[in-house]
Amino acid sequence: MGITESPPSYLSFSLFSTLFLILAATLVFRVGVQILKFHGFSFREITVQQIQLGFKRNQFTSRRLVEFYLKEIDRINPMLKGVLEVNPDALSQADKADHERSTKAAISLSPLHGVPILIKDNMATKDKMNTTAGSYALLGSVVPRDAGVVTKLREAGAIILGKASLSEWSNFRSDNAPSGWSGRGGQGKNPYTGGDPCGSSSGSAISVAANMVAVSIGTETDGSILCPSNHNLVVGFKPTVGLTSRAGVIPISPRQDSVGPICRTVSDAVFVLDVIAGIDSNDKATIETSRYIPKGGYAQFLKTDGLRGKRLGIVRNPFFLRMGNDTLAIVERHLNTLRKRGAVLLDNLEIPNLADHGISWRAEDTALLAEFKISVNEYLKELVASPVRSLADAIAFNKKNPKLEKLEYGQELFIKAEATNGIGKAEEEALSYMERLNREGFVKLMIKNKLDALVTPTSSVSRILAIGGFPGVIVPAGFGSDGHPFGLVFGGLKGSEPKLIEIAYGFEQATKIRKPPKL
Ligand SMILES: *[C@@H]1O[C@H](CO)[C@@H](O)[C@H](O)[C@H]1NC(C)=O
Ligand SMILES: *[C@@H]1O[C@H](CO)[C@@H](O)[C@H](O)[C@H]1NC(C)=O
Repeated sequence: MGITESPPSYLSFSLFSTLFLILAATLVFRVGVQILKFHGFSFREITVQQIQLGFKRNQFTSRRLVEFYLKEIDRINPMLKGVLEVNPDALSQADKADHERSTKAAISLSPLHGVPILIKDNMATKDKMNTTAGSYALLGSVVPRDAGVVTKLREAGAIILGKASLSEWSNFRSDNAPSGWSGRGGQGKNPYTGGDPCGSSSGSAISVAANMVAVSIGTETDGSILCPSNHNLVVGFKPTVGLTSRAGVIPISPRQDSVGPICRTVSDAVFVLDVIAGIDSNDKATIETSRYIPKGGYAQFLKTDGLRGKRLGIVRNPFFLRMGNDTLAIVERHLNTLRKRGAVLLDNLEIPNLADHGISWRAEDTALLAEFKISVNEYLKELVASPVRSLADAIAFNKKNPKLEKLEYGQELFIKAEATNGIGKAEEEALSYMERLNREGFVKLMIKNKLDALVTPTSSVSRILAIGGFPGVIVPAGFGSDGHPFGLVFGGLKGSEPKLIEIAYGFEQATKIRKPPKL
């Protein structure tokens, strides 16, 4: 290209074209900044509402979001081990969601449409992924269908990004196995401390905390949503037992098992709850429990002034006793915040039968061991194909594969469960003992004081909520004396989710403690 004798015509243009060029350059720059922003870091801590807004404004697609998370999983999961398997179909599901969004009226779409979600590996997915509760004994098993909650998530257009790691068999193989460990998944790590992530829904909590996924699902029999959420500075929501379907979930006890969200914010957890709560004909308990679901769903209770007029109970003994002084000081500050936001705090209340609660684990163990054998055998029998068909088979598998399954961690819970023989006299006694504990303990405390929720630091209240099938929400509260994250639990009577949401959201909005780990 030579030098032209006279300037080309486009350069001889006037002020008009100069302005145009400046405008165009600005536009290109701004679009570039947007792409940079959404290409990298600012997907961190993104909420469900921000995702939907980004979709609506064409700032990014579901594919781009899935690609971001897959890259993060590649980068940090080898260290954290929160994700057990990635769904080979995640990108094509994202493309489908992107296509649907371009053809359907946005108003008809669920808030989870196009949103990547991680499913604890004890929940059946009828796809290319395995469902194993972290154990090699179930590797290659073929499930008959999606778990009930997975069906609801797919119908809502959520992207099943993968399976979350967990404490193997939801921590019901041995009490000596470390929390967050499984044969297939190895040892999950807390992204804040590098140590104990707590289980059993460890991978679900690790993964949302470390921004390897948008939202996740866990299960709880006693503490398995609340404890990992406590340890990983995220929001955990354990619904009333039966509010969400347990069909297709590798069980411990139909009386205590509950499926619930683990997310970074209360509103994200509520959007997930709105999708997964409700009737599933494969879990009969959902039929009766569905009477608790309010017309219009749960999102309407995300009110910033949700604390106003709420009656909150404080039971210091035993829940405030074993805390460091720094942690206690943070908790006291939070209690003041709750008061300032209009809640009425009833302090120094007492659980009527505290001594009994101290030994309630014995009754709980007795019941769970028998219930586990019955329900896990049913689950295994229903599989289309499986290396193990019964609890006895699973015990034998571990003995045959002591290295693969680290038999040095033991399997004494398996063996004790196998020795049970249905619900006999001892189990009946244990069950009625726990029923009395609920009635004369937590329920009496709540009703007598007209409480909307009991407020407790860390997840130490989990057994009381567990044996009664009561709901609880944990919200990030800070870092304790030892530098470890912890949360506040708001626990309530069955079906009290709307109030718990108002309280938890009010507390979260007043404090905004959650922050991502430095990795
Ligand atoms: C399921 O397990 C098999 C056997 O280890 C493995 O080849 C396959 O990749 C697993 N599926 C996924 C999606 O990881
Ligand atoms: C906490 O404070 C109490 C009372 O001020 C004090 O007696 C106790 O030693 C402190 N505990 C710790 C672990 O610092």
